Amino acid sequence: MSERKSIHGEWSSRLAFFLAATGSAVGLGNIWKFPYIAGDNGGGAFVIVYLACVVLIGLPILIAEITLGRRGRESPVNTLRSMALDEGRSRAWVGVGFIGMVSGIIILSFYSVVAGWSLDYLLLSLRGAYAGASADRISRLFAGLTGNPWRQMFWFTLFLAVSLWFSARGVRAGLERVARVMMPALFVLLLLLVVYALIVGNAAAAFAYLFNPDFSRLNGQVLLLAMGHSFFTLSLGIGAMMVYGAYLPNGVSIFRVSVWVAAADTGVALLAGLAIFPLVFAKGLAPAQGPGLIFTTLPLAFGAMPLGSLFGAAFFALLVLAAWTSAVSMIEPTVASLEERGLGRGRATLSVGVVVWLLGMVMDFSVNIWSGVAWQGRSLFELFNFVSSDIMLPLGGFLIALFTGWMVSERSLRRELGVSRPLLRLWLLVLRYVTPVGVLLIFLNALGLIRGAL
Ligand code: TRP
Repeated sequence: MSERKSIHGEWSSRLAFFLAATGSAVGLGNIWKFPYIAGDNGGGAFVIVYLACVVLIGLPILIAEITLGRRGRESPVNTLRSMALDEGRSRAWVGVGFIGMVSGIIILSFYSVVAGWSLDYLLLSLRGAYAGASADRISRLFAGLTGNPWRQMFWFTLFLAVSLWFSARGVRAGLERVARVMMPALFVLLLLLVVYALIVGNAAAAFAYLFNPDFSRLNGQVLLLAMGHSFFTLSLGIGAMMVYGAYLPNGVSIFRVSVWVAAADTGVALLAGLAIFPLVFAKGLAPAQGPGLIFTTLPLAFGAMPLGSLFGAAFFALLVLAAWTSAVSMIEPTVASLEERGLGRGRATLSVGVVVWLLGMVMDFSVNIWSGVAWQGRSLFELFNFVSSDIMLPLGGFLIALFTGWMVSERSLRRELGVSRPLLRLWLLVLRYVTPVGVLLIFLNALGLIRGAL
């Protein structure tokens, strides 16, 4: 196979790729979702299982996605098409790319709504809206936001419009630049918040909670939740990392940079825990509060702390930055593929944006005027979240693991990866057997077939 070139351009360096890929991985998953699912599931034991899943399921698929992407150098659909052709496999594998495009669009529709809440809370913090407020007033604050479709629409539209603008500017001037500016800022804010929380909060309780595993809390359900989260947090299963890999310069070691991205993503999740739980425990609040942890419990804690509004604002700014660098990656598989069909990048982004916005309006209404609409006990918001995260991501990841592990020749992989034979074999062993079995378990769980059976 001859060397291919990306028509979308390349990252300017290994560091640029690292920042962009870490920017994709680090998002609401780390700062909003991880703390609340860890909180709901007993802390330490969940954290250990999640770490194991990142190593055994997440990392092997991350390496696989980036490898396929760099080999094909196109959007996931076209990369899969050319790879299948090169390896003499069925063209049906292209379907994996299509599933991914749809998932990315669905995920962004509710992701934008949550990012919109963060923007609203950034403003609320700056206005000191929750300083010294009672628990009651704070839950009314959140209900006031989610209950108002137009206020929600304003913020999610703003978030989405800015994301689209970044995306429209292209790989280097858009995605790379945003990551270069936002990731260091995010890191500084996060460290500041951790130091603040450790000083004014209850550090000992937070450490014990996060790192002292209570294995009696562990069950099949928790295990499967942790596995699902390892997908979401590493941006796997939709081809986002694949298309980022398509822009990776030759000569950069995919193994090494993947390990760094996974480590940075995990590090940020743990630091986010250390920024949040010391505050929660200092006020004697409960860590298991579900998705509202960040928008109700945390403002309550900030509201009672010295300089709480200021650090609260820093926290919500952190969420927004993290969400922007992730949002651009969710639509990149689709934007790149439209561009390859001859659409200009601006138009491609706009077309995707219109679809995401319309679905976003559905997500917006689903928590207020349509909150009564449910299917099998799930609201539309929960349904979108469930179908994309729990069905489409595992399905995509499972197929990517199978394709890379079983359909691509070892020689092609070795050529792209350039690692020693024992390391390649170890990765393939995990990718062929451990990863698909693990993913299959998440998948069956999502369908409710083996709920609690482990
Ligand atoms: N990883 C991001 C987070 O933790 C979310 C994300 C970005 C994502 N791109 C993705 C999730 C692609 C699934 C697929 O918030």
